[in-house]
Amino acid sequence: MTFPGLTELIGRLDEAVQLGEVEQITARVKSHLCDVLSRSELRLPERYWQTRDDSYARRLLHHDPERGYTAVVMTWAPGQCTPLHDHGGLWCVEGVVDGTMQVTQFDLTDEANGTYAFAERGRIRAAVGTAGSLIPPSDYHILGNALSDTPSITLHVYGGDLTNCRIFTPRPDGRYDRQHRCLNYHD
Ligand SMILES: [Fe+2]
Repeated sequence: MTFPGLTELIGRLDEAVQLGEVEQITARVKSHLCDVLSRSELRLPERYWQTRDDSYARRLLHHDPERGYTAVVMTWAPGQCTPLHDHGGLWCVEGVVDGTMQVTQFDLTDEANGTYAFAERGRIRAAVGTAGSLIPPSDYHILGNALSDTPSITLHVYGGDLTNCRIFTPRPDGRYDRQHRCLNYHD
């Protein structure tokens, strides 16, 4: 599979992930994503634009086990969003390809008796060509399509193969329960 912009994107990511320190890697990946996405250089094939009824779509774009990173495209119908989640201990950088996303970040403030407390740290609307980076353990957030009538598309780069994460569901008492979630790719 190849399409306009893919080779350049992979070349940039290959360069970035060899920098060593996670802060350097995520800063460089973020800079590359902002550059590539703001210039609309990545022309994703039709299948990446297809939404799903059951959840946001999660499709593999590129996996490099040797360099230790993965790029995933997510496609969000209006109203679709993630639960509060972490990223399996991996760094990640998430950029907006099309549409607008709402990103809500949380700080874990307490953990007791198998339940968790979070404080909302901030909420932003992320436009095309913007990207955010997350480095565990400060990597709790909720992502969702901010548009009520149009799909949005995001590109996620992870420092490994993100096969599972933890999700946090709100309890009646305001705290959260934790569950493990296995992550798969669609079509
Ligand atoms: Fe995330």
